Amino acid sequence: MKILEAASDMRAQSATWRLAGERIGFVPTMGNLHAGHLSLVERARQRADRVVVSIFVNPLQFGPHEDFERYPRTFEADVEKLAALGVDAVFHPAVETMYPRWPQPTVVRADPDLAARWEGAARPGHFDGVTTVVLKLFNLVQPDVAVFGQKDYQQWRILSRMVEDLDVPVEMVRAPIAREQDGLAMSSRNQYLNARQRAIAPALYATLCRTAEALLAGSPVADALEAGTARLQEAGFDAVDYLALCDGDTLEPLAVVRPGAVLLAAARLGTTRLLDNLLLDEPGG
Ligand code: PAJ
Repeated sequence: MKILEAASDMRAQSATWRLAGERIGFVPTMGNLHAGHLSLVERARQRADRVVVSIFVNPLQFGPHEDFERYPRTFEADVEKLAALGVDAVFHPAVETMYPRWPQPTVVRADPDLAARWEGAARPGHFDGVTTVVLKLFNLVQPDVAVFGQKDYQQWRILSRMVEDLDVPVEMVRAPIAREQDGLAMSSRNQYLNARQRAIAPALYATLCRTAEALLAGSPVADALEAGTARLQEAGFDAVDYLALCDGDTLEPLAVVRPGAVLLAAARLGTTRLLDNLLLDEPGG
């Protein structure tokens, strides 16, 4: 497995593979890899001849008071996991490589309608940081197919919109959420939780499931969401940033259940925000 740090090395490697007619699969990550990330790698493997994983903690998507500095960096362990899966190359650029004009980089603006809500409302500028880094990574890796997790549903929608609007020649694949035994969606940020918070955390997914059941049984949307929010508070979450039923494409809130609807949730345990979601058409997904 190759470890590439320079943009020119990444480009040259991709050019060689493309010239040989090989299909390139790509999984962008910020490292600290868990089974969720690895499931994306497996998917990329199934759809491509070569797999590239990027590991880059992107400063542009962190707010000034967010966890950029303390974001867990476990490069050696990550590389071992990726080598064991038969990944062909790890792209591990430095901040100067990705942002030669840091701290004033050129930025790709995320679709303003999609980015105004939910995570975007809680984290101003976050999605512009995500679209910018992912477009740059696409330009360097030149993938045929890229795999993202449903875990970050809004991110997935915004990146798919970017690819569509900017005619980026890549196939976007969405992979299901990998969960712990107790239902908690896997996340690098779960390790910030203390034992008490970790015991409360699975209530997020449990509540999404209960809320989906209530909605599918015909409960009015406002009642189901209110009951879900109350459950999260009773379970011990310190704040419920949102529990919302949305259109899966536009992310606009829905007053009635319809095909393609998604339940999105973000709730806080101390300073840690946990995200989760459920597609109503795919209960359990
Ligand atoms: P990161 O949080 O490292 O996640 C990398 C990819 O793994 C994303 O597509 C995310 O949705 C997916 N993922 C995370 N947890 C998952 C889980 N439990 N099950 C399945 N997939 C999961 O998302 C980012 O990094 C960054 O924003 C990035 C896209 C790399 C741009 O910097």
